[in-house]
Amino acid sequence: MGCGNRIVKNSSIGLSDSAFRSTLHAPGTGVCVSAFCGLQSPPMKKILAISGSLRAASRNTALLRYAQAHAPEGLTIELADLRDMPFYNADFADPPPPVQRLFEQLRQADGLLLACTEYNYSIAPALKNALDWASREKDNHLLAGKATALLGAAGGMGSSRAQYHMRQVAVFLDLKVLNKPEVFCNAFGPSFNEAGELVDERIQTLIQQQLQALLAAIG
Ligand SMILES: Cc1cc2nc3c(=O)[nH]c(=O)nc-3n(C[C@H](O)[C@H](O)[C@H](O)COP(=O)(O)O)c2cc1C
Repeated sequence: MGCGNRIVKNSSIGLSDSAFRSTLHAPGTGVCVSAFCGLQSPPMKKILAISGSLRAASRNTALLRYAQAHAPEGLTIELADLRDMPFYNADFADPPPPVQRLFEQLRQADGLLLACTEYNYSIAPALKNALDWASREKDNHLLAGKATALLGAAGGMGSSRAQYHMRQVAVFLDLKVLNKPEVFCNAFGPSFNEAGELVDERIQTLIQQQLQALLAAIG
């Protein structure tokens, strides 16, 4: 193992071979070989993934679960839960707890991954509502400037109409939406198995490319 010009051997630091190897490859710890050099690997970047569908068997949420399970090194993906979120209403004295939870997740997120469920040629209300709540925070600081990627599953057009509406909304929210790759998935074809998991290799590849692009956009 190299530390600059210095060579460190596992025997010299008192670890067995297997412990030494697992230290080198400890996933998700943010600490690897560089720990022995007094260096830390770059901090993990965090993505908040939000699905426009609330249903348990949602194809859109399945896309996000695939992304979560296949996040590239250096990226973690957390899923928001919008099921208890009330509609935006300015009469609330304070944002209710489900909204506060979303705000906290947004505060910690370096970027966003939005699954744009398409209802009647547009953005499903749960997703728009979550963004509406967030946009009312001071100076739109929870959203402004955030690198954002869109994807979605719907009928024959693969949620493209909802995604293009989302791009319009994103202009006012000052979200920095990636142009490519575009991820339009058919919710009704063979892209999902009986358990509702994404099995379409073309879409899987697009999502992996999209996550790489998102990581690069976050910087
Ligand atoms: C109220 C409603 C409106 C819909 N409108 C459209 C539509 O305009 N375009 C489309 O492609 N699919 C439309 N669909 C089909 C959904 O995209 C499809 O059911 C999709 O699987 C929903 O996402 P989910 O699986 O994540 O819940 C609609 C479904 C519902 C319930």
